Amino acid sequence: MKPTDDVCLCFHVPLVKIRGYLAREDPKVASLISECLGAGTGCGWCVPYLKDLHAQHKAGQTPTIEGSAQDYSAGRLRFRKDGSRDQQRDQQEES
Ligand code: FES
Repeated sequence: MKPTDDVCLCFHVPLVKIRGYLAREDPKVASLISECLGAGTGCGWCVPYLKDLHAQHKAGQTPTIEGSAQDYSAGRLRFRKDGSRDQQRDQQEES
């Protein structure tokens, strides 16, 4: 995803804003990212991604999300329709 793409689609919070928040505030836990324009406090779709971004930040990496914004958005539509997440994401969360 590009820095200008929204990570939290409910509140239109782009990746660049979350990167800035992480760099500025260095939050201890991922849930504090909600202080960044309410990210993660809507439908819940982006929460695992916010956790990934937080983990990448803590590991000293530039937080990023692989894949296209279109696929990300389509995944959220499925999630909102039936609560499912894609299999690849589920496997990442289990490891
Ligand atoms: S996409 Fe972030 S809470 Fe819905």
